[in-house]
Amino acid sequence: MTATTARNRMLGHVITAEQFDRDLLDVLFRRATALDGVRDDRLAHRIMATLFYEPSTRTRLSFESAMLRLGGAVIGTEAARTFSSAIKGETLEDTVRMVSTYADLIVLRHDEAGAAARAASVASVPVVNAGDGPGEHPTQALLDLYTIERELGRVEGVRVAFCGDLRFGRTARSLALLLALYPGVRMTFVAPPVIQVGGDILARLEARGVECRLAEQLTDVLDDVDVVYQTRVQKERFTDPLEYEQARTAIRIDGAIMRQLPATAIVMHPLPRVDEIAPEVDADPRAAYFRQAANGVAIRMALLEMLLA
Ligand code: NCD
Repeated sequence: MTATTARNRMLGHVITAEQFDRDLLDVLFRRATALDGVRDDRLAHRIMATLFYEPSTRTRLSFESAMLRLGGAVIGTEAARTFSSAIKGETLEDTVRMVSTYADLIVLRHDEAGAAARAASVASVPVVNAGDGPGEHPTQALLDLYTIERELGRVEGVRVAFCGDLRFGRTARSLALLLALYPGVRMTFVAPPVIQVGGDILARLEARGVECRLAEQLTDVLDDVDVVYQTRVQKERFTDPLEYEQARTAIRIDGAIMRQLPATAIVMHPLPRVDEIAPEVDADPRAAYFRQAANGVAIRMALLEMLLA
């Protein structure tokens, strides 16, 4: 499939990981590799709006960097909840209708699941979901999958242990859906029951014939993994502080865990981390999370090119 065919199939908006298939991913990853380090003006005169109702460092700045590296321009609000007309009571739909007339593409982060789909239903330009509450984070999943392919040289047949907050963590949900496209992938979801993965995701994975296991301790699965995908416990989504405290300390990766991890395995994390990965792990060559974050720029360049060029 060529980049043009791929672009025509993108449906305009990027809302869920389930929009992607293997062909589209292959094209996107080839373009990301080709665009890595590029600075030119192929998106000159194009404007990207970043509309962020929730905090972000990597996602917003890597989208902005990607757009600037391709010669495009960026407008946006990074605290849309307080600095946009949302504080005056404007609905998301009204804001998006307006911003559609100011920019050629909207990158939206919002605290409600389904917000990106709502925005897309009224937008006259492509909407990219940069995280919708506990829903999905498809572009993070793209860079995560790209990282697995680059680090391990393959995706087919990989064994992935998702750890941490699999109940509210949107990145693990989206990545699991993308991994389901690759034959032989085995997924283990490692979390205490209070933050274990939702039945909705398990049902979708099982419908695709993916082999899934649940576990409570990382040490029980460490000898049988290629990727440990650790996640932050999403404090902002808990209503019960006691429940959060119990969940927070459940799974931690430290030097002792790294000693048990196979030499060829990698540790990933969408970041930010709090204390679920000890700083002593950073120097280990198997700690892939900073390389993973860096991959976000090239992936988002490829995505912007596909949506806008
Ligand atoms: C994640 C997110 O916002 O969902 N961060 C990111 O985009 N890299 C993960 C998190 O906040 O824990």
